[in-house]
Amino acid sequence: MPERDHAPLPMNPALRSDATPPGPGATAGAARLVRGEILHFSGAPDAGAPADASPAYEHYADGGLLIEAGIVRRCGAWAEVAAAAPPATPLDDQRGRLILPGLVDIHVHYPQTDIIASPGRGLLDWLERYAFVAERRFADPAVARETAGFFCEELLRNGTTTALVFGTVHPQSVDALFEVAQDRGLRLVAGKVMMDRHCPEFLRDTAQSSYDDSKRLIERWQGVGRLGYAITPRFAASSSPAQLEAAGALAREFPQLVVQSHVAENTAEVAWIRALYPDSRSYLDVYDRHGLLKPHAVYAHGIYLDGADRQRMADSGTALAFCPTSNLFLGSGLLDLGQVLEAGVGVGMGSDVGGGTSFSLLRTLGAAYQVAHLKGYVMRPLQAFYLATLAGARALGLEQHIGNFAPGKEADFIVLDPAATPLLARRMAAAQSLDERLFLWLTLGDDRAIASTYVMGAPLWRRDA
Ligand code: GUN
Ligand code: FE
Repeated sequence: MPERDHAPLPMNPALRSDATPPGPGATAGAARLVRGEILHFSGAPDAGAPADASPAYEHYADGGLLIEAGIVRRCGAWAEVAAAAPPATPLDDQRGRLILPGLVDIHVHYPQTDIIASPGRGLLDWLERYAFVAERRFADPAVARETAGFFCEELLRNGTTTALVFGTVHPQSVDALFEVAQDRGLRLVAGKVMMDRHCPEFLRDTAQSSYDDSKRLIERWQGVGRLGYAITPRFAASSSPAQLEAAGALAREFPQLVVQSHVAENTAEVAWIRALYPDSRSYLDVYDRHGLLKPHAVYAHGIYLDGADRQRMADSGTALAFCPTSNLFLGSGLLDLGQVLEAGVGVGMGSDVGGGTSFSLLRTLGAAYQVAHLKGYVMRPLQAFYLATLAGARALGLEQHIGNFAPGKEADFIVLDPAATPLLARRMAAAQSLDERLFLWLTLGDDRAIASTYVMGAPLWRRDA
């Protein structure tokens, strides 16, 4: 049996709750079986394959997962997995539905939950009118805690089991989110926003205070249970060069940490950055000069990167969060996904709530397909689900823990319902292939298609409960 590849985790409280089906073995340590159609990915398309080639995957029409203490022990054809299970292992029968690894959202702002769907005149106007106003309230830990609770429930309802999350400038916003995530056993990566200029006075920190506050949060939370810290300069416009220096110093001191920010999202923003940093070759180069491009750094948007930028992202191991609903909603522009993949940049999916219009990564993939198509690139359905699962885990450096059902991984998974709505059921009935069904879920699906969401083997969300 494979060794656990991570430190022992605190017991997931959900495993002790009545969310776990009753019966022998319905405890954290006992084995359990899940039966249903299973799809997961073992890799990206081979190097040299056409950019739109399908990633490597395994598909079992009648599959099984054997889970023990929240960890995947086996994944394969049902008969084989069932034969390997201890006698009388309890069974969770999901036949007729599709089991997938939990979805990974690599760019989202939890404090913007309450301003989703607020129309503005482009990014900078939207930030001033809505985002900064909403984020001010997170000075109050009670607001932060209540919102974090709603946010985590919304992630689960949408099948998202891991996210890379922006807090606000207030360190207590991150404490609140991590406390809530820890209660639920969710694997989250998050950080306190660093912003010391070009924003309202009430949201400003300083280069020094942002360094000190981030460091305290790192010491308190990094690697605690399933939680990870992300160094989070908001974007180059709202950080002084001294603050980007401080962020770079943190990245050097804690090289295993995720870095997250925004880049090249909007034409007015790009022009502003050019004026603020006249010595930099490009917007991305501002971050590069401060040591902020590296493996497990994740930049959102990147619509206005050039070829040299894309190459630099690929070479440095920096990933891009594709946030198509946000890019459409804020009128930011259309990412040329084909160019980004062609350059070998790691890509994952971001909801970018509240600039994005949905917590659902199914909806996000649906928008991604359409945006890519407008730029002449046709996303394959298998590729789409790879981007929303294993690719996201890779971008965050979490591939050894999550992203697929390899033995030893944490059993975060979702169950997709092919009959979630009358239209989906009707259209699915005519579908001939896995590709076709995946395409229907990403085009017609949303939170209603998520029948259940499991975290460390425990069902934390059941639509019909
Ligand atoms: N750039 C800087 N801050 C933000 C933000 O909160 N949302 C988006 N979409 N872009 C940003
Ligand atoms: Fe964002």
